[in-house]
Amino acid sequence: MSSKPPHSKDRARPGPGKDPKRKPNSRKAAAKKAARSGASADAKVRTPAASKPARAVQPAGWVLRSAPGLGRTLLAELRHDRLLGADERADLLWQRNHDLLFAPRLTRVPVAHELRIAEDVLRCLAYGRYKLSDSQLDRLAQLLQGQRRRLVVTADGKHFNRHDLFRFLNRELSRRGVKLDDSAKAPLLVFCIEQAYYACIPVREADETTGRDRRQVEREGSLPPPIAAAMAFMTRPADDDTVLDPVCGSGTLLAEAGGYAPGARLIGTDQDLQAVKTARRNLKTFETAEIDHGDACALDLPTESVHLVLANLPFGKQYGDVGENRTLYSEILQEIRRVAAPKDFRAALLVSDRHLLREAAKTAGLKIVHETAIRVRGEDAVIALLHLPPTR
Ligand SMILES: C[S@@+](CC[C@H](N)C(=O)[O-])C[C@H]1O[C@@H](n2cnc3c(N)ncnc32)[C@H](O)[C@@H]1O
Repeated sequence: MSSKPPHSKDRARPGPGKDPKRKPNSRKAAAKKAARSGASADAKVRTPAASKPARAVQPAGWVLRSAPGLGRTLLAELRHDRLLGADERADLLWQRNHDLLFAPRLTRVPVAHELRIAEDVLRCLAYGRYKLSDSQLDRLAQLLQGQRRRLVVTADGKHFNRHDLFRFLNRELSRRGVKLDDSAKAPLLVFCIEQAYYACIPVREADETTGRDRRQVEREGSLPPPIAAAMAFMTRPADDDTVLDPVCGSGTLLAEAGGYAPGARLIGTDQDLQAVKTARRNLKTFETAEIDHGDACALDLPTESVHLVLANLPFGKQYGDVGENRTLYSEILQEIRRVAAPKDFRAALLVSDRHLLREAAKTAGLKIVHETAIRVRGEDAVIALLHLPPTR
């Protein structure tokens, strides 16, 4: 997998952004100067029809975005769902607030129960590097004909200036007959990451994923469902698993485990009665869900009865206390160790303090096999995968 953005062969047009390879072009520079001075009102209006004979154009690919740190997990889900051919490439890029995956081709259009880790699934209409060429603009205009869109430009890195690109696109696309309107609901999203740009329209947002409409009540501190999905996906829930979240809050992790394995038995506990009520409502369509009031440090469950644990342990901000977390993590992990089934046991735990978790896992006799650094609502955190240590 390459982390390099894709290359565009089409770099002819001057536009916002600096092309280090561009040779001086006095005619274009003069035209640009004239445009800046106001002569642009007389400039020739380019329409796709005027520039070349109309031809059906296809979108250039797909863009999927995840929470920061989960791009590789999303790529694994893409391959797991066989949406990416075995020898097809996907580029992983990093935005300030998202990981972004660009795939020129998927094997089919993703359906609503797939790609649970994606925060959004977007059709990429045009992409390239350095410049938006005339042909890229024509192509975008053709794909956007008849639509009203709100233009949103974001730029990570120094190459593109967000405001300049916004003005440039507004002008060039309007000239080509595209209706851009700040009050339109549907956006045209243009992401720039260093020299690369991607012009996209949303196909699906995270809350349109299958099952998420069952979520009836929100609770402060609840995990965004795509992050909960990533944790569940990492542990590959199966229909014959008993899945436990000992600090279930609003039940997000159990709901996502059920999204991958609808037959799994889902057990949740929380010491807060309000959380229990919320989780029960959010999971009421899962016949296999059992949510109870209880203490994660003294679970009312038989020894060796749980195959999979998913938990977002209190960070010590909204819930719990940073000082008390050492004892709390240690006691919760010892209880997880007690209920862990001897065969194929796995757990995914989300914490903000990886050192505290490592200490607690060691004391409890659980082995951390992988750690993924992520950001949850702007805060650094880690998802740790745990197994039972191998028996000799
Ligand atoms: C970060 S929240 C979990 C959020 C949850 N993943 C969600 O999406 O809503 C942590 C939860 O741990 C619960 N909690 C803290 N200590 C606990 C304990 N000893 N036993 C059970 N629950 C506990 C809190 O009440 C809180 O609901």
